[in-house]
Amino acid sequence: MSAETLTVIDNRTGKRYELPIKHGTIRAMDLRQIKVVEDDFGMMSYDPAFMNTASCQSRVTFIDGDKGILRYRGYPIEQLAERSTYLEVAYLLLHGELPTKAAYEAWAYDITHHTMIHENVKKLMDGFHYDAHPMGMLVSTVAALSTFYPDAKNIHDATSRKKQIHRLIAKMPTLAAFTYRHSLGMPYAYPDNDLSYPGNFLNMLFKTTEVKYKPNPILEKALDVLFILHADHEQNCSANAMRSVGSSHVDPYSAIAGATAALYGPLHGGANEAVLLMLGQIGSKDKVPDFIKRVKAGEGRLMGFGHRVYKNYDPRAKIIKRLAEQVFETTGRNPLLDIAVELERIALQDDYFVKRKLYPNVDFYSGLIYQAMGFSTDMFTVLFAIPRTSGWLAQWEEMLLDSEQKIARPRQVYLGSPSRDYIPVERRG
Ligand code: CMC
Repeated sequence: MSAETLTVIDNRTGKRYELPIKHGTIRAMDLRQIKVVEDDFGMMSYDPAFMNTASCQSRVTFIDGDKGILRYRGYPIEQLAERSTYLEVAYLLLHGELPTKAAYEAWAYDITHHTMIHENVKKLMDGFHYDAHPMGMLVSTVAALSTFYPDAKNIHDATSRKKQIHRLIAKMPTLAAFTYRHSLGMPYAYPDNDLSYPGNFLNMLFKTTEVKYKPNPILEKALDVLFILHADHEQNCSANAMRSVGSSHVDPYSAIAGATAALYGPLHGGANEAVLLMLGQIGSKDKVPDFIKRVKAGEGRLMGFGHRVYKNYDPRAKIIKRLAEQVFETTGRNPLLDIAVELERIALQDDYFVKRKLYPNVDFYSGLIYQAMGFSTDMFTVLFAIPRTSGWLAQWEEMLLDSEQKIARPRQVYLGSPSRDYIPVERRG
């Protein structure tokens, strides 16, 4: 008997099965041979919310939640945040390797030269109500792009895929900035090709009457770091949506719209907004002990704490905490920071949080920076969607090129009514 197997004994029949183990997993399809009688469907595994199911093999992002490790294509997030740029990281995620100087220049040129959107997309945006949520507008307009680029349907053509990847990474900031301008009733500001990726985004958001917008270099750098930190996070809810929608072979704009919709939910991309709300409600540092007491009594959660995968300090939160101090030197200190630091100090030495391994996650400090930079809270999730686009596309392309992948189609355990005959309405009691 090979050591790399799992022995299963079915106590209903006494039969014994040897299931191969590879990469610490067994294949769910290997369970199908386990039957009581020959015409049984066979055994399935039941795993609501994919708590313990690997849905793919991936080479993009690695997370060790117990140790608090995050790597893109093998590179530690700390090194990328300190030394790389978002555009370089996007290249890395999509190509698997860091670019040469020439490859980087060509990549940056291609992204920079795809930032404009068709004027009709602008007209579509004009149709939204003045207080439309920017995420609702982003989901709709990115889906609408598929009608402007029908060539995107050629998902099996590498050249076409590459073009859509350039377009999507380039146009997401433009769509995002236009949603913001729409909400303020300000004229849209067009992309400026002389600026960096984050610099141009700030230009499209905040340019007013000046002839040439000059981004503040500290804020431009901080935004770039935040983009790097949010670029990918392996099989989270929105990446899973991207893969699942994309597995039907729909065009990538429609699949990105699905992923963006998944990100919109408060359990996923919306938590940074909730942190700010919570800090505002606490109001001052001296109220922190009382708030912690209420959390421990089950009256609400400490938002920005805890994670399904990280059972240690989220490595992104550490970087963001340092970044916040740098940003506040420029913007002025966000007074809510003192409350956040006090919450963290008390929680990290409290048995309730220690026992449950609850640490600050990426959302604990990011909202404080966004707010200090001048963003309204409803823009926070949009700021997440822009950089995550490169991660979604990397996951999508990996899925398309994986010969083991097919249309995502889970099974169910049916517990509904057995077969019964239709009853005409006049005979229904
Ligand atoms: N405050 C207080 N208690 C908590 C918290 C929290 N933030 N998070 C978890 N717990 C407790 C929870 O009550 C449970 O206690 P008990 O064992 O006594 O019932 C235990 O810790 C395990 O919690 P869980 O809900 O089973 O854990 P989960 O892995 O299903 O949930 C989570 C993970 C992120 C949804 C959760 O920690 C949470 O709600 N955190 C606050 C919201 C938040 O910050 N979300 C951002 C996630 S990171 C960004 C992203 O994914 O987009």
